[in-house]
Amino acid sequence: MDQFSTWLALVVLFCLLSLLFVVGYFLVNGVCTVPWVRTPTRYSRRMLELGGFQSGQTVVDLGSGDGAIVFEAVKMGGIGIGVERLRLLVWYSRLLAKIKNVSHKASFSPSNVLTDPLPSADLITCYLFPGVNRKLEPRLKASFPPGTRVVSRDFSFPTLKLIHVEQVHSAKIHVYEI
Ligand SMILES: C[S@@+](CC[C@H](N)C(=O)[O-])C[C@H]1O[C@@H](n2cnc3c(N)ncnc32)[C@H](O)[C@@H]1O
Repeated sequence: MDQFSTWLALVVLFCLLSLLFVVGYFLVNGVCTVPWVRTPTRYSRRMLELGGFQSGQTVVDLGSGDGAIVFEAVKMGGIGIGVERLRLLVWYSRLLAKIKNVSHKASFSPSNVLTDPLPSADLITCYLFPGVNRKLEPRLKASFPPGTRVVSRDFSFPTLKLIHVEQVHSAKIHVYEI
């Protein structure tokens, strides 16, 4: 095989493996699942500020991905809990917490926010699709005291009391009260 054929074979192999990964991901998680998209610091910091998050308080991020919002809360002097259904992301977040030396302030639970018990917290953050928010809403009302703030990136909740909306670059941050 000449050099060109070797490279071509490697590219084809890479494409096939990528396709296999994508198909596997959707088979495991369902086609309509919320994908992991990270919230960068410039949004997560503002989400926490708009939620009135204070040093010493606890935030729970529902669908926590790699823990971006949880780690931002820790930077602000608080405690962060991540709830994430993809175990791989939970393990990765825990590893990051160890590397950052904040495992005592940042914890991650491999749970489904629609079926498993929700941890108590002073503030709730999320970046989920509207369909998930709709199913989540009655659970929030049942699990958290009235007045608890819910900060949602981009997507709205149907009946929670909306108290503020702010556009931060390309993200729309909704602040609700239960
Ligand atoms: C758009 S990402 C947001 C990640 C993180 N909150 C952030 O802002 O960086 C949504 C995350 O929610 C998770 N997720 C979706 N549905 C979930 C469910 N029912 N229970 C727990 N996690 C869920 C996904 O796996 C994904 O990591």
